[in-house]
Amino acid sequence: MTDAALPAQQAAERIAALRSEIDAHNYRYYVLDEPSVPDAEYDRLFKELRALEAEHPELVTAESPTQRVGGEALAAFGQVRHEVPMLSLGNAFEEQDLLDFDRRVREGLDLPAGDLFGGGAEVEYSCEPKLDGLAVSLLYENGQLVRGATRGDGSTGEDISANVRTVRNIPLKLHGSGWPAVLEVRGEIYMPKAGFEALNARQLENGGKTFANPRNAAAGSLRQLDPRITASRPLELCAYGVGRSDGGLPGNHIDMLKALKGWGLPISRELKLAKGIAECRTYYQAIGEKRDALAYEIDGVVFKVNDFAQQRELGFRAREPRWAIAHKFPAREEITELLGVEFQVGRTGAITPVARLKPVQVAGVTVSNATLHNMDEVARLGVMIGDSVIVRRAGDVIPQILGVIAERRPADARAVHVPERCPVCGSAVERTQLVKRSKGRESVSEGSIYRCVGRLACQAQLKQAIIHFVSRRAMDIDGLGDKIVEQLVDKGLVASPADLYTLTYEQVVELEGFAELSTKNLLASIDKSRTPSLARFIFALGIPDVGEETAKLLARALGSLERIGKALPEVLTYLPDVGGEVAHEIHSFFGDAHNREVIAQLRERGVAFQEEGELHAEFAACASLAGFIDKLNIPFIAATGAERLAARFGSLEAIIGADWLDLRQVERLNEKAARALRDFFDAPENAERARAIEAQLREFGMHWDSERKAAAGLPLAGQTWVLTGTLEAMSRDQAKERLEALGAKVAGSVSAKTHCVVAGPGAGSKLAKANELGLKVLDEAQFIAELETLQQ
Ligand code: IVH
Repeated sequence: MTDAALPAQQAAERIAALRSEIDAHNYRYYVLDEPSVPDAEYDRLFKELRALEAEHPELVTAESPTQRVGGEALAAFGQVRHEVPMLSLGNAFEEQDLLDFDRRVREGLDLPAGDLFGGGAEVEYSCEPKLDGLAVSLLYENGQLVRGATRGDGSTGEDISANVRTVRNIPLKLHGSGWPAVLEVRGEIYMPKAGFEALNARQLENGGKTFANPRNAAAGSLRQLDPRITASRPLELCAYGVGRSDGGLPGNHIDMLKALKGWGLPISRELKLAKGIAECRTYYQAIGEKRDALAYEIDGVVFKVNDFAQQRELGFRAREPRWAIAHKFPAREEITELLGVEFQVGRTGAITPVARLKPVQVAGVTVSNATLHNMDEVARLGVMIGDSVIVRRAGDVIPQILGVIAERRPADARAVHVPERCPVCGSAVERTQLVKRSKGRESVSEGSIYRCVGRLACQAQLKQAIIHFVSRRAMDIDGLGDKIVEQLVDKGLVASPADLYTLTYEQVVELEGFAELSTKNLLASIDKSRTPSLARFIFALGIPDVGEETAKLLARALGSLERIGKALPEVLTYLPDVGGEVAHEIHSFFGDAHNREVIAQLRERGVAFQEEGELHAEFAACASLAGFIDKLNIPFIAATGAERLAARFGSLEAIIGADWLDLRQVERLNEKAARALRDFFDAPENAERARAIEAQLREFGMHWDSERKAAAGLPLAGQTWVLTGTLEAMSRDQAKERLEALGAKVAGSVSAKTHCVVAGPGAGSKLAKANELGLKVLDEAQFIAELETLQQ
């Protein structure tokens, strides 16, 4: 824009426009803590204004933003005058800017210029990251922190002493000795990335406003009139300089920072000395590579002439030191236009909005799509199609939309609507409210997701489901890449994972990229996948929220697909790490007729698990009746109430049957709670459900701990028995009942922990295993004899 100098009239107009735009951004950024444009855009405006002013020095005025540093102090805080002004830094964007800076430094110091082969005298520079937070001044008198202030406009800032004192890594008293009696430390207060994420998550949960980036979060937290709020925010200081001091400091910047460190002030761990500008360049590259791994956001590095005498010699130009420069990294935030929103359908049918953007370069990469996560995010951002949006790209993460520049909204901007029908299959789109139960039993909305109800009839879901089914950690079918899955679905050869097992040579060889050998290989690897472990198979089913670990847990704890399929959600929540949502997903997956049909087909087509085992200790472990009552979520009955009920009544049946008078006897159970309990169990479906859950827990081997205690005195307490083969004198159930009455646990399969195996005629593998393990084996007659002795 400044390649050809503008005529004076046009330049004056452009300068006026730039100034008012920059002033408006400054006000939003510095005073309101609400950024209106990304730094990169702001820097560009600033650079353009600076260049124009350089061409037309007669147009420079004292009010120009280039002549001052920031915004105005907020009236609500006390004002602080900075005796030594808090300055800004010049920026280098390109390497040439850096070389020019070094040249000006050498010229200013009268040092001989280097040539192509180096030579000349090298200047020593200190190198530090440029932290993205808020500049502060901390005044120490006789080693005590007496005042903290923001930069404000560079000459006057706000008194934020009370807030600054809450920042954990700012010493209230200097350590050691030898510090100047008056020492004004300058540094950056910032919010580490992890703290920022956690704060935003917390804000979301409490319905508060979220922050666009750690810088705004730090600024917003520090400018709180209530220091308790500041104290709750994860802020940190990094000291990078000294303002006022009454002598007694080392003669160069790095030694001075080390002295500050010795007095208890945090300084950058990345601080380095560079000999000459070439080493500065290496530092810039090294920090650039480390940028993502750093715990905090940086937007560049700062180079400062290390020697204080040289700094004094160089002095200042307007409000910037001639001895320092900020070398900025490519911006990670840019502005572009939201052209439209498309909806993608995932494996579980979840419909996610994806932003289509006018292509824009962000940190060296062209960005044309960004994730919008879900409709709650769209609502939170308040974004409309046609809006100018701020996009951010960092590392390998998918680009994100940070915010909307509301002032630039065009008149024809359109709202974002979720389609009523799935964009892929045309099925209905259903909205699911995600609900989290809190302690107080109220339901708290956790947002909503939209799902296409088409399931495997939706090609998008079908493709994703099959890609997941065949993946390495699931059924591990080699040679079935995404493109092949797409072909199989598009050609109608596969309409469910079960159809993979009916594929023929003729069908596969016809596919693009297949020949005789590759076809044979694919069919062989499909065949080989027929005997997965139960855990792999469950994972492969792609039940929403059931990852590999949960699949392993389900397989181990329940041992068979049949038990997993019929487990009630409340029962599933007895498993470690299975919460209500996951339990519900598992239960409804197996409740779905179509899913059951696919599973049946898989089994018919030869998919058989390597093992279907016994119930594992997860359920056998004793459970408390109190915990069970608590799980029923009865209004007004909290954990302690549940404990008292369990202690008084001892069994679910007794609680269900308790009348009003019985209930009123329970210590500290108030009338409201007693009534709520009665109402709950008076509803037959609640009592039935509670009984069903209890029955299933028992079927899965659970005993109430109260019963355990009672069982401890019984002859077979602590023993595990296995019944196999046919019994003639009694049914298996009767035998089980009698053993349990004697305190034994009856398991479905034999292991080293089994105490005794009762083997009737027709006993097979279990008997063989018992013999192999050298366990005690009884036939039916011996068993009956033993029961009789034990019962005497
Ligand atoms: S030195 C006279 N060092 O950048 C030099 N500033 O654009 C004054 N900043 O207001 C600043 N990290 O908020 C310096 N290591 C660092 C810095 C740093 C971040 C910020 C600071 C300053 C702004 C200047």
